[in-house]
Amino acid sequence: MRTPIIAGNWKMFKTAAEANAFFAEVKGKAEVEGVESVICGPFTTLPALTEAAKGTAIAIGAQNVHFADNGAYTGEISGGMLQELGVSYVIIGHSERRAYFAETDEIVNQKVHAAFRHELKPIVCVGEQLEEREAGKTKDICTTQTTAAFAGLSAEQAAQVVIAYEPIWAIGTGKSSTAADAEDVIAAIREVVAGLYDQATADAVRIQYGGSVKPANIAEYMSQPNIDGALVGGASLEPASYIALIEGAK
Ligand code: G3H
Repeated sequence: MRTPIIAGNWKMFKTAAEANAFFAEVKGKAEVEGVESVICGPFTTLPALTEAAKGTAIAIGAQNVHFADNGAYTGEISGGMLQELGVSYVIIGHSERRAYFAETDEIVNQKVHAAFRHELKPIVCVGEQLEEREAGKTKDICTTQTTAAFAGLSAEQAAQVVIAYEPIWAIGTGKSSTAADAEDVIAAIREVVAGLYDQATADAVRIQYGGSVKPANIAEYMSQPNIDGALVGGASLEPASYIALIEGAK
């Protein structure tokens, strides 16, 4: 069966010193048998985090990667640079990157391929805006984004992708999707993967829910058959809250 995966997305919060202090508090606690625990810090925290995570069950992720392996791309970070640090996961196509940095479905797909070239497991974000939801387009949007993100991947690669379904209206707003609604969309996303590949691949892919997840509601999401974890922003920033999320995902 699929191993649940909780990933904290710190976004643009925490210095390296703050990351170290956080890690010292969660070490040994945000490590629960049967739950994968991933901390995705800003680039500048990654050397400290990967060093601190050695010998622990906590994996470290980045929040972005460039699609090229190197080149004249001022300010960008490549997959090889992340791999060298010992980073295991990378968030790709977060709605904030799609909205503020013009990331298209095609760029997301190129970044997914870049991740695989460097042994990084992609956490691919998909999700609809409020107007799209109100227009009944949620599943169409998720189908389009998922299909584009997986283009050119082998079934073996596809099975390793983590998808994060994040309705954009639920991010950082305190308004979360109901567990039943999230389950409905996530089941549909799994069917998309089955259509692109086969049932075995769809059954292997882990799909998270993201959007105002907190210790108080994590168990409800985890009780849904198709929800395999959560991508958590705000509630991943405090050690006690992060530990509670990992424990709540058991
Ligand atoms: O990547 C995480 C999501 O954007 C959710 O953020 O938990 O603060 O709503 P949030």
